[in-house]
Amino acid sequence: MQFKTPEEYKPGDILISHGEIQMKIQTISSEIESYFHGKNVLIIGVMKGSFMVMADLIRALHEAGLYDLTVSALTVSSYGSQTVSSKRPTLKHEIDIDVKGRHILLVEDIIDTGYTLKFVIDELLLRGALSIKTFSLLSKPSRREVNIDADYIGFVIPNVWIQGYGLDTDEWGRGNPDIIIGPIVGTIDK
Ligand code: PRP
Repeated sequence: MQFKTPEEYKPGDILISHGEIQMKIQTISSEIESYFHGKNVLIIGVMKGSFMVMADLIRALHEAGLYDLTVSALTVSSYGSQTVSSKRPTLKHEIDIDVKGRHILLVEDIIDTGYTLKFVIDELLLRGALSIKTFSLLSKPSRREVNIDADYIGFVIPNVWIQGYGLDTDEWGRGNPDIIIGPIVGTIDK
């Protein structure tokens, strides 16, 4: 998918429509099903932003034939009400399952600086996860500070402030079915 430059967007513009998101999730679900075929997979959503993509992804995985899965979540926050990463993600809610010896699919809504994903992967490995694959609906490589990316990426997006489809601006806008340009464009590092 081709995006415009950040300057060409204005608040409220749709960056990625709900339909485009669903098509992408379907395609990636088939790849994920092929990879995990025959294995029991523990799917962990990194909350809160990933709640919407978690639901659609798990539904699509079921349709693709992946039935042997356990669903869980943990909550990490590095931004709070700020638009600049604290660079120190903190675990706000614990996972309810022992990850030791498990094959894990980690689900993120967005990778920005990369601190959150690195923090979560390190934590799960420390706890004895057997393998970890990562899915992120969005990736914003222009903002990366940690050399990390997801195994499965929905859309590589420009450096624009976005909200919707689970993502917020200070808790506002998570329920929008589309991903839209948030109130501040271009200059913000998230
Ligand atoms: C957002 C998003 C990712 C993280 C990515 O979470 O959901 O988890 O930032 O940023 P990074 O790559 O720079 O670390 P946020 O801390 O805003 O919490 P939220 O999911 O509850 O909105």
